[in-house]
Amino acid sequence: MLNKLKQWKRRQVSEDADERFQELKKHRIPEHLAIIMDGNGRWAKKRALPRVAGHHEGMKVVRRVTKLANQLGIKTLTLYAFSTENWKRPKMEVEYLMKLPEEFLGTFLPELIEENVQVRMMGYEEALPSHTANAVKKAIHKTKENDGLILNFALNYGSRFEIIEAMKDVLKDVQNGILEESHLNEETFSQYLMTKDLPDPDLLIRTSGEIRLSNFMLWQLAYSEFWFTDVLWPDFNKEQLIEAIEAFQGRSRRFGGLQSEES
Ligand code: IPE
Ligand code: IPE
Ligand code: MG
Repeated sequence: MLNKLKQWKRRQVSEDADERFQELKKHRIPEHLAIIMDGNGRWAKKRALPRVAGHHEGMKVVRRVTKLANQLGIKTLTLYAFSTENWKRPKMEVEYLMKLPEEFLGTFLPELIEENVQVRMMGYEEALPSHTANAVKKAIHKTKENDGLILNFALNYGSRFEIIEAMKDVLKDVQNGILEESHLNEETFSQYLMTKDLPDPDLLIRTSGEIRLSNFMLWQLAYSEFWFTDVLWPDFNKEQLIEAIEAFQGRSRRFGGLQSEES
């Protein structure tokens, strides 16, 4: 009896989620969603598992969220997978994290191709082990003609690093007469960032209860909406994605101006 009740309840919850999911599509959907996928280690610790088990579980969530984002009509999904500061972690964990792109793409690349997803990467590629960089490059190459969701992995990414590199390129172009100093403005500077052909994120989600940016897209997030949850990344599911987007749809984005009815 109790089991039947549980089953009924579970079905009810998933039917509700499906309805809410469909409802979302009738309203404003973020064009660019960025996610700081955090909490894998704590998820594993809670289960007395090694931290890497959390990373492995987190990878499955990437697959599910990619599918959902695609179904919602989100154009770009940027996922923070490894920061320029994550090298500080124990060697064994770093090695595992560097193997994950191969494992993820080895398993899901055919599915991504099928779903018209375009894989991209932003980050300091030269410092990645060659097996990691090659797996990503292969996926980028195989999906470059796809024009559906852009799945942009921030891998060995750090926003301060990105800004410094952009500054160096700006200086070079000014010295070589390619860019006039008087033409340097927010728009032209954006063209030197790793996101040069992407719009700024409309919505940023961070899981695991940490309320900080951890060196993620400092320039690009200037006017994004933020949504934080205590849920750990491996537990992140359709329900939370719906909640985040519902919250986004209820926000009034003013960009420093006034709401249209106030003007
Ligand atoms: C996020 O989970 C994944 C990466 C940073 C690579 P964490 O590994 O940071 O998990 P916590 O924050 O320690 O729980
Ligand atoms: C941010 O998470 C980086 C990624 C999710 C890849 P961290 O777990 O590294 O951030 P801090 O150390 O808690 O700020
Ligand atoms: Mg963390």
